[in-house]
Parts: sequence; structure tokens; C-alpha cells
Amino acid sequence: MSKGKPMFSILTILVLCCWFAARIRAQNPSSCVSSSCGGVSISYPFRLATDHPNCGHPDPIFKLQCLQNRPILQSGSGKFVVQSISYNNFSMRVSDLGVVDKNYSSCPAYSSNSLGTQYISPGQSNEDIILVNCLKPVSHPSYVEDPVCGNPSAFSNSSRVYSYLVVGWVPPSGMTDSCVEDRRTLVSSDTLVGNSNYTMIHDSMAYGMDLTWFRALCGECKGFCSVEDNKISCRHVCYEDTPFSERTFGFLIFVVGVGIGSLLVLRFIFGVLFVVGFLLYKRRKQRSSTDKAEAKALELEKR
Ligand SMILES: *[C@@H]1O[C@H](CO)[C@@H](O)[C@H](O)[C@H]1NC(C)=O
Ligand SMILES: *[C@@H]1O[C@H](CO)[C@@H](O)[C@H](O)[C@H]1NC(C)=O
Ligand SMILES: *[C@@H]1O[C@H](CO)[C@@H](O)[C@H](O)[C@H]1NC(C)=O
Ligand SMILES: *[C@@H]1O[C@H](CO)[C@@H](O)[C@H](O)[C@H]1NC(C)=O
Repeated sequence: MSKGKPMFSILTILVLCCWFAARIRAQNPSSCVSSSCGGVSISYPFRLATDHPNCGHPDPIFKLQCLQNRPILQSGSGKFVVQSISYNNFSMRVSDLGVVDKNYSSCPAYSSNSLGTQYISPGQSNEDIILVNCLKPVSHPSYVEDPVCGNPSAFSNSSRVYSYLVVGWVPPSGMTDSCVEDRRTLVSSDTLVGNSNYTMIHDSMAYGMDLTWFRALCGECKGFCSVEDNKISCRHVCYEDTPFSERTFGFLIFVVGVGIGSLLVLRFIFGVLFVVGFLLYKRRKQRSSTDKAEAKALELEKR
């Protein structure tokens, strides 16, 4: 078994080497006091445009305008009203600037596509709302008639346009080829219940969508940055830049492979030892029998 021990230590070293060092980092803003706009508390990484530039994260997405007592997030061409910021879990809720609560004549003005930025991106629990204009009426549970936000001149060859809000993912069979997408927005899935009508979807759009901004706190994390138990975690991986959870299966196969490999090597060594031992034994037996034969022959000669 002397061969097994070095194998085991090599394995241990490998495991130790490739284990990541999880480091928890929390960046604390310096001496800036938090601001407020429309009841929303604004502190690092956010800042108001009127705050000192050093007070927020350097990326301009964190610079909020306070307009008519509403904090406005500008992302690309899109403008969104910040409804709330949660500093405990690095999330926020924003609504399209075009959507005014309880004014059912107001419509989303921007596409949620403008929200996939380096530091701020949609959270896990949103639902797509797609504005479509159709040539023909559509009867499908996911299509909710939209009396307001449609584009009457969506088709140059038809004066009659049927407009809908399509909620969530629609199977391809449910998407009719007489419809073209106009805009899409997101709403927090907390607010949507089945069989919504236009009023309810409008209320959801006014409530807004969930975004996450934890990447602002990843600092110089070169590994895999994520949120775990409401804390920023940075994992340094040794052989791959992929998160451990995605790696576990491959790693398991690797460990099992190394185990099987070392067993095979041990088997081979023992096999060789056995064969050599057997040959030696046989040779000895042969020699002793020839010795015996020689002795017998000598005895016979003597007689
Ligand atoms: C973050 O926390 C707030 C309350 O502090 C909660 O309303 C919100 O749903 C949480 N968001 C996520 C993504 O966990
Ligand atoms: C409701 O929104 C529409 C479209 O944005 C606007 O023209 C109208 O003035 C608003 N109505 C009220 C009462 O604010
Ligand atoms: C109108 O144009 C659309 C393409 O924009 C086409 O799919 C549709 O068949 C046309 N309808 C008529 C009645 O010509
Ligand atoms: C939408 O549904 C809600 C609740 O079922 C109802 O109160 C409201 O009147 C409906 N609105 C329209 C436009 O049908």
C-alpha cells in the first residue's frame, strides 16, 4: 500500500490548490451623507446629480436626477422612476417614466432592453410585457387588449390596427404572424396574477420592475462575484473562471477519475509483483526439482 499514500497526498494538494478562497467584501462609502428624493433614500453606490461626484460609484448610471420630487435613473436612452432602493439585498424597483400611476392613458415609453448594463440589470423575478400591433384580431389568453398604447399607423396598408399587451412568455404557436412587436417592458412578477386585464397590467407597470445593482460592490473581484445570503461574495477560482456550482459535476468526475486511475495503477503494480513473484516461485520449484533429480541421478551412479 506504500504507493497509495503519495497518490492520496497528490490528490489532497490538487484539491487544496483548486479550492477557491471566498472573500467577502463590503465597500463602505466615505464621509458622504445619504440624500433623499421623493422619499427614496439615496446613498452609495447611488448619488444625486447635486451630490459630490466622489459620493457615488463612478459609473454614471448611479447618478440620479431628482425631478419633480422623483429620482430618475437614466440608462442609455431609457428613463425610469426609482420607486425604491433596497440596500439590504442590493435591489431596486423602477418604473418606466412614461407610465403614470392610475393614469390609464399613459404608456411605457422605453424599452427594458436599455437596462442590461454592466452594473445594473433586471432581477430574477420579472415578467415580460410586450406591446404588439396586429393586422387581425387575436384571441389568446396571453393577449390583453390595449385600448391606448397601440400604434394606429403600424401598418401602412391597413387603417385598422389591433393592439395587445402580451404577458410573459408566449409559445411560438401563440405568436401570430399578423402581429409585430412594438416595445417591451418588464414588471415585477409579484404584482401579476393570472387573467390580468389592461387596468391590472397598467397598475403592474406603474409598480415597476426589479433590478439588481450588486455588481457595483464587486470592486476589484476578478473571480465570480455574486450575492449570497444578502452579502457580496467573490470566489477566486484556480483553474477555471466559472462558478463552483457549475463546476461541481465536472470536478466530481475529475476526482472520481483520479480515484479510478490510481486504483488501476495500484492494480497494475500488484499484478506485476504477483507475476514476478509467481515466476520466481516457479523457477525455484523447478530448480529444486532439478536439484532433486540430479541428486537422485548421483545416487544411482554411486550404486
Ligand atoms: C429586497 O428586499 C426588499 C425589502 O427590504 C424586498 O421587498 C424585495 O423583494 C427584496 N428583493 C429581492 C430580489 O430579494
Ligand atoms: C395621462 O397621460 C396622458 C398621456 O401621457 C396625458 O396626455 C394626460 O394629460 C394624463 N392625464 C392626467 C390627468 O394627468
Ligand atoms: C400588409 O402588409 C403586411 C406587412 O407589413 C403584410 O403581412 C400583409 O399581408 C399586408 N396586408 C394586406 C391586406 O395587404
Ligand atoms: C379588471 O379587473 C379588475 C379586477 O378583476 C376589475 O376591478 C376592473 O374593473 C377590470 N378592468 C377592466 C377594464 O375590465
